[in-house]
Amino acid sequence: MTRLKVDPTPIAKISADAIIVFIFENEKDDSRYKAIDKKLGGRISSLLKNKKFSGKKLESRVIDSFGKLQTEAVVLVGLGKKSNFSSEVLRQAAAKAASSAASAGAETVALSIEGLSDIPVEELAQSAAEGVILSQYRFTQYRKKGNSAKKGIVKGIFSQLKDAVKVRKAVLTAEKICRGVELARNLQNQPGNVATPSWIARQACTNLRKVGIKCRVLGKREILKLKMGSFWSVAKGSAQEPKFLIMEYMKGPKSQKPVVLVGKGVTFDTGGISIKPSAGMDQMKFDMSGGAAVIGTFYTAGLLKLKKNIAGLVPLTENMPGGKASKPGDIVTASDGQTIEVLNTDAEGRLILADALVYAKKYKPSKVIDLATLTGAIMVALGRHTTGLFSNNQKLAEAVLESGFSTGERCWQFPLWEEYEELIKSKVADVQNIGGRWAGSITAAAFLKQFTDYPWVHLDIAGTADNEKPITPYNAPGGTGIGVRLLIDFLRRNR
Ligand code: BES
Ligand code: MN
Ligand code: ZN
Repeated sequence: MTRLKVDPTPIAKISADAIIVFIFENEKDDSRYKAIDKKLGGRISSLLKNKKFSGKKLESRVIDSFGKLQTEAVVLVGLGKKSNFSSEVLRQAAAKAASSAASAGAETVALSIEGLSDIPVEELAQSAAEGVILSQYRFTQYRKKGNSAKKGIVKGIFSQLKDAVKVRKAVLTAEKICRGVELARNLQNQPGNVATPSWIARQACTNLRKVGIKCRVLGKREILKLKMGSFWSVAKGSAQEPKFLIMEYMKGPKSQKPVVLVGKGVTFDTGGISIKPSAGMDQMKFDMSGGAAVIGTFYTAGLLKLKKNIAGLVPLTENMPGGKASKPGDIVTASDGQTIEVLNTDAEGRLILADALVYAKKYKPSKVIDLATLTGAIMVALGRHTTGLFSNNQKLAEAVLESGFSTGERCWQFPLWEEYEELIKSKVADVQNIGGRWAGSITAAAFLKQFTDYPWVHLDIAGTADNEKPITPYNAPGGTGIGVRLLIDFLRRNR
């Protein structure tokens, strides 16, 4: 992982392979890069004057410094209009710049966030740092051929004359957050034959115990003993044993009720007997992304030594067809006694989450947030840019929405009115696991709601958990690690 350093040397004097210069669209003030421009004989100002570089958001250009600076290259990167600036714009611009620098062969890169905006310097530093680090992530474990030379950015240097203490702290925080995101991405990107329920549980515990998280794994015997009939109905068709991963981190005041995080951990979703079409089915290895987000969040919580009480629950299983699999029409009983008519075995996420949401009640939680790649319908509605949010508590919903906006992991709320519950009433059981043709993401959430009795938010991350082509410059192809930055922001805001 890219390491970061804060250095009180002026940017024009820092020695690195490349220097990043941020430029707003139509900006008059050149004070941030004047010294660099001067050493380059006015190259930057002439590019701007001749409209060869305009500062449009994420526009980038690498210029050679011809030995006039302590660096080989200068990377210009556009920030767009000053009035549209946000820490997310900076996160993306820093990522874009780091990637351009890396493509030009740089291994060390220097940048400065001074004088960019009146957004608090900690926030700017954290965003820029996240952009640089996350942009350098690649999942290369299985590419044994032609994949050795490129290192990417090994070191990022923040030139910071004022507020260096604050910036150093923010940069360290960003590093810890990114390690959680990277853990989540690594778990997501593993193929289904490697990342089985047992493997993920083992990986989670090995990593989390190192940072002071208590970790327990329940197997088939305990799952049956807890009468998790809904979870088991999904798991029983697989040759892989299901696991129920429990994480606990109780470093907050004794009197504080815990926040419980729940993540869907379907390590591969074939659809079961209601089997999916074969085109694109490989993508269903990402169906454990909610679980990966929870595991990554605990890793960062441990690294940051958050003074919080948090529990995490991840039901892990495959969803397979076969002689032992559930069949459409089967009726199963969840651990709270509710009966469920399984009309479609491909609506399995809600079945495994039901028992996890019931288990969460043991903690007498102040709130519960679940993350799940739950419905294709959420992708129809929101595409890859936005997570769907559903809640039974408006105050909590708004708090999560706010963390979404401030981290760039934006969420959008859907209604969860009582009327929708009509759509999942079964003729033969307490509830059925699918609604009709319409409002698929809402009926899925309405199903989950039946198993909650605490303030709760459900995040449908089916669209945002992975991307084939990166949708931001700080993403890489594959898992995005969505949820880690959002949840950490939520927890740090003392909620
Ligand atoms: N894991 C899928 C949802 C999904 C679809 C995630 C596409 C990512 C991309 C989920 O288990 C599922 O199959 N949902 C069904 C529900 C339906 C049967 C009611 C769906 O969305 O088609
Ligand atoms: Mn499914
Ligand atoms: Zn699924």
